[in-house]
Amino acid sequence: MKMTVLVTAIFANLLGVQSVAAESTGQSEYMIACAGCHGESGKGDGRLAELLKIGTPDLTGLATRNEGRFPFEYTVFMIDRRNVIPVHGNDMPVWGDRFQASATSERGETAEMVARGRILSLVYYLQSIQQ
Ligand code: HEC
Repeated sequence: MKMTVLVTAIFANLLGVQSVAAESTGQSEYMIACAGCHGESGKGDGRLAELLKIGTPDLTGLATRNEGRFPFEYTVFMIDRRNVIPVHGNDMPVWGDRFQASATSERGETAEMVARGRILSLVYYLQSIQQ
């Protein structure tokens, strides 16, 4: 019993540390790749936003717009976009392709794994800035 509690505590700790790490990776990634349009605060007020044909959404309101629940899969899907047929007037870049193309593998990860990791770290970051 004691052992189970200990093991559970260690795992919980590891997971906590991991998600904090993913969040800060996601934050730097966000500032480089997304803040230009969505704004440093995520509220859709980036410098490039006014040049776009359509409005740039407030990413701190993803949960509010989804009845208070953060739409995890939807957010992954919206960032990745590799399975979406481009429509005219669609200004949001296809990050799945870009991340995959720029992936460098040091220990044998596939480009797909690297791209998914970067997308997930962004999703965790967005989850952490919901208002
Ligand atoms: C060139 C400007 C631009 C950049 C850079 C950009 N986005 Fe977007 N994003 C948009 C626009 C415009 C929309 C809304 C229209 C659409 O869905 O294409 C959008 C939509 C979204 C949505 C869906 C929001 C909703 O409420 O449905 C998410 C999530 C998102 N972006 C995340 C990101 C992330 C994460 C990055 C960085 C990796 C990023 N965006 C970079 C312009 C941009």
